[in-house]
Amino acid sequence: MSVGRLAAAASGIALALTLGGCGGRAPDSPGARLYAMNCLACHQRDGAGVPGVQPPLAGTPVPTGDPGELLRWVMYGERPASLPRGPYSGVMPQFAYLSDADLATLLSYVRTSFGNQAPPVTAAMVAAARVAHRGR
Ligand code: HEC
Repeated sequence: MSVGRLAAAASGIALALTLGGCGGRAPDSPGARLYAMNCLACHQRDGAGVPGVQPPLAGTPVPTGDPGELLRWVMYGERPASLPRGPYSGVMPQFAYLSDADLATLLSYVRTSFGNQAPPVTAAMVAAARVAHRGR
């Protein structure tokens, strides 16, 4: 690895620590780091969301529900029936640009954090969601 790449990698880690590290424990797993970089700003460190703006990721149906529905929502903004339009003023970005491996790690983290206890999302499930979406 070149010195420049090392520096870039180090600054990426520093950014993740800064984003995730304000006051609480530093993110300590790849899933926690991905959450800190992509989701924390809206859904908050503890997954509690912001009332009326962004929903919590614990005690809500989509995070621990059908992995296919979760993937369609997070990757493409396809709204599941269990997430009625309306109560939240925020708009969620789409995350299909993340790699299969990163989405699997990130969503598995969400499904096992904040008190959630749901089976992991695999990279193969992410790949299948991409194929299904392209087929539309
Ligand atoms: C810019 C703010 C923002 C970011 C960043 C964001 N979300 Fe969201 N998220 C929202 C909003 C707003 C909603 C509710 C949207 C709606 O119902 O129209 C939502 C809803 C959800 C839901 C459905 C929860 C339920 O009530 O069942 C899940 C799951 C979710 N987000 C996961 C994620 C994940 C995972 C990430 C990071 C990859 C993420 N979000 C990043 C704003 C955000």
